[in-house]
Amino acid sequence: MTELTIREVQCAPFTDQCPGTAGLRKKVTIFQQPHYLECFVQSIFNTLALEDSATLILGGDGRYYNKEAINTIAAMSAANGISKLIIGKDGLLSTPAASHLIRKRQTDGGILLTASHNPGGPDGDFGIKFNTQSGGQASEQMTDAVFACSQKISTYQIADIPTLELDKLGTQNIGTMQVEIIDPVNDYASLMEELFDFDLMRSALNSGVKIHIDALNAVCGPYAKKIFCELLGASASSVHNAEPLEDFGGLHPDPNPVDAAHLVELAMTPDAPDLLAASDGDGDRNMILGRGLVVSPGDSLAIMLANAQVVPGYQNSVAGIARSMPTSRAVDTVAAELNIPLYETPTGWRFFCNLLESGNITLCGEESFGTSSSHTREKDGLWAVLFWLNMIASLEKSVDEIVQQHWMRFGRCFFQRRDYFIADTDKANELVENLAATVPKLTNLRADISSADIFSYTDPIDGSVSNNQGIRIFLKNGGRIVCRLSGTGTAGATLRVYLDKPERDPELIQQTPTHALAKLGQIAAEIAQIKHYTGLDAPTATI
Ligand code: G1P
Ligand code: ZN
Repeated sequence: MTELTIREVQCAPFTDQCPGTAGLRKKVTIFQQPHYLECFVQSIFNTLALEDSATLILGGDGRYYNKEAINTIAAMSAANGISKLIIGKDGLLSTPAASHLIRKRQTDGGILLTASHNPGGPDGDFGIKFNTQSGGQASEQMTDAVFACSQKISTYQIADIPTLELDKLGTQNIGTMQVEIIDPVNDYASLMEELFDFDLMRSALNSGVKIHIDALNAVCGPYAKKIFCELLGASASSVHNAEPLEDFGGLHPDPNPVDAAHLVELAMTPDAPDLLAASDGDGDRNMILGRGLVVSPGDSLAIMLANAQVVPGYQNSVAGIARSMPTSRAVDTVAAELNIPLYETPTGWRFFCNLLESGNITLCGEESFGTSSSHTREKDGLWAVLFWLNMIASLEKSVDEIVQQHWMRFGRCFFQRRDYFIADTDKANELVENLAATVPKLTNLRADISSADIFSYTDPIDGSVSNNQGIRIFLKNGGRIVCRLSGTGTAGATLRVYLDKPERDPELIQQTPTHALAKLGQIAAEIAQIKHYTGLDAPTATI
């Protein structure tokens, strides 16, 4: 075994590294500054204080800078006494697959390289986050500790290592550290086979059900090809943009009707496939479409709960369900009718993790096209697509029939998220502060409001309290307005205004969301004084 040269390198702390629930997400050019990535990785190692026998999972969504970062992290892992790294071939691992591997291989955690749905390429974004041995994202406490460390760090340890052969399956030795390069797809595909009825889905595809999966040139391509084409026998033309590219081939891998408008267009054509779907950069989000419609994420979660009995992994075994607070209340009606406990958590996937870990919930989802279950500790895009395909095969109904029947039985909860991009962060903060100050007076100021509050959450498992998680305004007509600032942007601020309104009238449920929510949107704009603070007459994006 060759002895490694380990260097201790001096570095100045980077004051712009900010704490965040999703780790560190910045422009590639920022990550390319000398010592920048290294400072952050060393801060992770210093905070974790791992044993010398530690094993970590390492991989990313394949975006620009992925391979460089993997080599740097491997060199630093060797210098910091990590005993083993398990890395996806070519540096690829989808976020749900990485989370699954951490759990399956019982490692001490994993480092995931992704900026999720943010654009990629040399001018795009890069990101790094740490998941703990539970498979879930590090706690806020831990990310704050990493941040604090990155503020005062002055040296990092790095070994001189040869460039890793990321395309070669098997084990390589770097000094005393083992590097195992694994197929990134196999373990994940086996897990899916345990949860879903592959025989039934295979025969549905065989008897003419048509699917169109768009990986948007991001990490999901190899996963989708293996699962849908190889294991389920769908035609090769069912999976599109399947090669992970460093710049996503210019596509924006965010599965929503704005960024994946081409799928919406296809869904609206008369000979559209039966099921259309897309995922994001790191494979944790999903958008489901059927002939003539995009399934709203809140509806998707509610429909999954209502039909869980047809999916082998969830038959009679849904312990509970959670949705993030701004997510539409469609699932509440189903949970109440089926007598299944429902939890309402703040925005951010990590709030689901304690509930999944304790067994309180089996399914969970958020409005931002994220859905998953207790099979992993991250949201999972392809899992959601398989859940829908399994429902289509079992119920022998198309996506639009499943959705329509659901609305007829449980009613429909109209939902829209209106995003206002505000370049001046101070203005955005002023708007929210003013709105928060208005909350106690709202019922006096307006006769159409029944109550309003600022959402605060006490974690039922560890008792931790998260305050200021968004402003909720409930209207007498049953509608609800939620306002909060995005926590994931890399520049400026985004005000998110979430509108939802349950409707039972069979005729009114056929309206468009824009029509059904027009009045609610006006009320939101008035109360929050959006035009006054931002100069904006209309949202920058509505999804
Ligand atoms: C957004 C979504 C949220 C999701 C997060 C990470 O956060 O709204 O549901 O958990 O990305 O994918 P936001 O920008 O709203 O803070
Ligand atoms: Zn993502």
